[in-house]
Amino acid sequence: MGRSSKDKRDIYYRLAKEEGWRARSAFKLLQLDEEYQLFQGVQKAVDLCAAPGSWSQVLSRKLRPNDETSEVKIVAVDLQAMAPLPGVIQIQGDITKVSTAHEIIRHFEGQPADLVVCDGAPDVTGLHDIDEYIQAQLLLAALNITTHVLRKGGTFVAKIFRGKDVTLLYSQLKIFFQDVTCAKPRSSRNSSIEAFVVCQGFNPPDGYIPNMSNPLLDHCYDVDFNQLEGPNRVIVPFLACGDLSAYDSDRTYSLQLDTSKEYCYIPPNQPPIQPPYEEACFLKKNNLLAKEPPPSPLNQSTTASAKEKENNAICDGGEVQKLSISS
Ligand SMILES: C[S@@+](CC[C@H](N)C(=O)[O-])C[C@H]1O[C@@H](n2cnc3c(N)ncnc32)[C@H](O)[C@@H]1O
Repeated sequence: MGRSSKDKRDIYYRLAKEEGWRARSAFKLLQLDEEYQLFQGVQKAVDLCAAPGSWSQVLSRKLRPNDETSEVKIVAVDLQAMAPLPGVIQIQGDITKVSTAHEIIRHFEGQPADLVVCDGAPDVTGLHDIDEYIQAQLLLAALNITTHVLRKGGTFVAKIFRGKDVTLLYSQLKIFFQDVTCAKPRSSRNSSIEAFVVCQGFNPPDGYIPNMSNPLLDHCYDVDFNQLEGPNRVIVPFLACGDLSAYDSDRTYSLQLDTSKEYCYIPPNQPPIQPPYEEACFLKKNNLLAKEPPPSPLNQSTTASAKEKENNAICDGGEVQKLSISS
């Protein structure tokens, strides 16, 4: 497969490079904005789980169109290091940690944010229940931070996995916001469980005092809760967004989109600066990956019996998997 094959398979990946976005996710926020005018009147914004930074780029370009500094404040947070962006304050940290939450909150004391966005996603394991649970934890951590920094009437947008327990999350969000909608931008693949909750009109319950140790950070699943029926069951409107003429993220497009322009391969414009797989790449490049230590005379007998077991497993039809990391 050539290096342009991803350009064919993923139109938004290709467009992101052409338009100078760090990731295809930029289009998700742009398409959500087309529907909800998220940036109208926004001067202070928080981008949670921001790396590599395409949502922060969108915020920076939309809130500071002429690069002026003025009153605009954008704070971006991620576990991973992120290359700098104009007008964006960066914090490297875990949003589920109280210390990170405090650092974010400190930036908005006396000047609350108008908008909080969170595109956080765990490294998916493929075990759906676990992935959905961790995703829900991220969303709740983001919501908890939001209750500290968002002004009344402000907006919260967050990635959500529409799994079987999603109604519990909807009802928790409805406690804090006048309007909660679930939206699927056209740039988000149909095959993906991902969608975005757009929560407008922040209005915490009377007497609610944001508290970093409150149970929002300890999301407890109650099976019965999700079986609620009738008026007790919270169902939020679902909206597909992004113009119908927008590209379909599940389709493959030919490399030459425009007959008047030759296709030209563009490399990603901001590769990750400190990716978690950096060490594995180094080990692989230097042929140091998964080398077994040579058997020492002392443990030779144990090694031999382990080898015997492995052979038996293969003979019994057992599967012995060898892990490899490809670059
Ligand atoms: C889909 S990416 C975000 C893409 C980003 N919106 C953009 O446009 O470039 C998900 C991010 O969530 C971050 N993340 C996952 N768990 C986190 C946590 N507990 N605290 C902070 N960031 C987290 C990951 O490091 C990853 O960068």
